[in-house]
Formats: sequence, C-alpha cells, structure tokens
Amino acid sequence: MKIISVVGARPNFMKIAPFINAIKKHNEKLEPSGSQPVKHLLVHTGQHYDVRMSESFFRSLGIPNPDINLEIGSGTHAEQVGHTMIAFEKICITEKPDWVVVLGDVNATLACSVTAKKLNIKVCHIEAGLRSGDMAMPEEINRLVTDRLSDLLLTPDRLSNENLKKEGVPPEKIEFVGNIMIDTLEANREKVAGLSIAAILEKNRLDEQQKKPAPKLDSDSRYAVLTMHRPSNVDQKEILEPILNFLTEEVSKDMPVIWPIHPRTQKMLQKFGLWEKAVNAENLVLLYPIGYHEMLRLNMGAAIMLTDSGGLQEECCVLGTPCLTLRWNTERPVTLKEHGGASVLVGNNISRIREEYQTALQTGRVPQRPELWDGQTAQRCVKAILNYGK
Ligand code: UD1
Repeated sequence: MKIISVVGARPNFMKIAPFINAIKKHNEKLEPSGSQPVKHLLVHTGQHYDVRMSESFFRSLGIPNPDINLEIGSGTHAEQVGHTMIAFEKICITEKPDWVVVLGDVNATLACSVTAKKLNIKVCHIEAGLRSGDMAMPEEINRLVTDRLSDLLLTPDRLSNENLKKEGVPPEKIEFVGNIMIDTLEANREKVAGLSIAAILEKNRLDEQQKKPAPKLDSDSRYAVLTMHRPSNVDQKEILEPILNFLTEEVSKDMPVIWPIHPRTQKMLQKFGLWEKAVNAENLVLLYPIGYHEMLRLNMGAAIMLTDSGGLQEECCVLGTPCLTLRWNTERPVTLKEHGGASVLVGNNISRIREEYQTALQTGRVPQRPELWDGQTAQRCVKAILNYGK
C-alpha cells in the first residue's frame, strides 16, 4: 500500500510526527499479521517556510525531511490553494498513491483532498468532524469541503462523529480514533519538564527587546502566555489595540506576559503603529515563534493561557492550564469548561476577558483527559486505513 501524507502549516507538523512513527512500527511488525507494508511519502506544501515556523518542528520532533516540498509559500487563499493543487496533481499522477492522508484544517488539507479525489485516489482526513459553525473562518471552509470528499473520516471526539452524521456522512466512513496531537504531547511532556523558562526566554527574545533585561523567571514563577494569529483578532486595529492595552495595562501588572509572536501578528502591529508600544511595554516578553518543546514547557508552567489557537486549547485541556480562548466560537467544544475542560470562550470583548481572567486565576489548574486522548491515536489511524473496506 502506498500513502502520501500532506503537511503545509505549523499545526500539521505535531500531528504528522506520531502518524509517521506508527507507520514505521507497523512496517517493523506487520500487524495485523499478514498485512502489507506501507510505502509512505511525505509532501510539504511549503505554506509555512520560515525555519522557526517549519524546519525547527521537523528537527525537534524527529520528522523525516519531506520527500517532496511544493514550495508554495505565502499568498492569498486562492493563490495558496490553486498553486498547491497544480503542483500536487503532478505528484499524484507520478506517484499513484492508494491513499492521500490530510490533517486538520489548513489550506493544504483542502487543496490536496480536492486534488486527490478528482484523480480517484482515496482520501483519509485525520481530525475530521470539527465544526465551529463560523463560515467567516477559512478553516471551517477547509474542514467542510475536506470532510465532504473524504473516504475515511477519523475523528478526535464523539461530538465530531455527531456533526458528521448530521451532515449525512455514512457511518461506515467515520471512525472515532482520538486526538493525534495528544500523542505528541504525551511523547514529549517528561522530556521537556527540565527545560528552564529563563533559558527559553533568553534564546528566543526578539532582537528589539534584547536591550532591556528579561524578567527573572524560575520554575515557581507566575507568568501568562499569549498567542494570537487569527485574522479576526489581528487584522483590525479596533480589535488588536484594546487587547494589547489590556495586556500592557492589566495582565502585565500581575505577572510577566510571554508572547511568541506569529508573523501575521507582527506585521499587523507594525502596520497599525503599535509595534513600538508592544516592544517597550514593561513585563511584556516578545519572542520569535518558538519550537514545540519550548511551547509545551511554557504551557506546563503557565498560570494562564490567552490564545486563539485550536491546538493550544486542546493542550491546555490535558495539562489543565486555565485558558481564555480569544474567539466567539470553537470547533473544539470538548475543551470548554462546560464539557469538563480548561477553556472559556471570551471573544475579543475586553470586559468579558477581564472577568474570565480573574475567575481563571482563582480556579487554577484542572487537568482533563477526554476519551481516547491517550497518546495512542496514531496507531488507530494507521489501523483504520489498513482495515478500510474489510
Ligand atoms: C495558517 C492556517 C491556520 C493555522 C496557522 C498556524 C490556513 C487557512 N490557516 O494560518 O489554520 O492556525 O497557519 O500558524 O491554512 N508567514 C511568514 N513565515 C512563514 C509562514 C507565513 O512570515 O513561514 C507570514 C505570511 O507571509 C503571512 C502570514 O504569516 O503574511 C500568515 O501566513 P498564512 O500562511 O497565510 O496563514 P496563517 O495565518 O499562518
């Protein structure tokens, strides 16, 4: 059997690492007995290309170099999807895989599932069935199209199965396998426990902040972590500026705020004339995008996380870090407090953020483990592909 799996952007990398390991293990043991070996090719579309957004994850998570890099780079959505489809079609025609495996909800997921399906190649979607219901999110469009086309839909939780059934997906195409990203978290959490917070800050602080001393943080220090990159939060000054003010005028008075900055957010702060303010703010520690291990270590020790990332919501749930999700909706409701998780939706309304910030600090850490978020999801994914149609 020949499988091409596709990655394109940062959130894909931590999901592909355990999948590739599970294929390797399968090939070593060939279980179920008598099953065929898998020939695997990894395609990187090149949507994320900076060393810190891409290569560093390959290195730190031991992901083999991509067999093929389409080098699509940045662009509008149509440009990224269009260029990916044209380049990926050639790969599929030459390589003739039995399956194309796509992950998550980025532009590579959409582009490669459509391309494969039009060539009659079977498509497997890992992390199928998540729905935010928000069609203004590019990721929601990517999820809907990919799930509509996929032959095998591997879901991270039971709510996702329900979403798919409501949309009329035949039940035999759907399999609940758990959350593959938690495989990576479990494989790495002990390893990173000894990393020094101070060293992470020192290594990754923006050049612009090197002149002022970093706050002295040890393993007992209280600190907040912030990440933000969604267009809905960062593309409008009227939304981004009040959030920045809340951080500089309120949170940073309580504790240092560590902020690994996404390239889009940095560009927007510069465009809106807010960059100097962020760089010079007392107790706001700006970092370049950091590696997987470093982020996991920061999350493990944080008093609070403020984020618009889906993956961090999930990691906070398992680690128990109180999480303010800077969105009005989520495709990952199992991570919310009402489902036992650690996160609350606060959107970008400052009085709501302020109120939930105080509550979250009082609640403290409450780790949770949703069903099948057990570190064994990747092997269930490989098994589901091998058993397809049997
Ligand atoms: C993409 C995903 C999003 C995911 C996010 C994580 C889609 C639709 N969106 O959004 O779901 O949460 O990745 O990061 O696929 N840039 C760089 N260096 C890079 C990559 C990008 O500077 O290596 C810049 C680009 O020039 C662009 C901005 O960052 O200005 C945004 O990149 P883009 O690829 O459009 O999507 P993300 O916002 O990162």
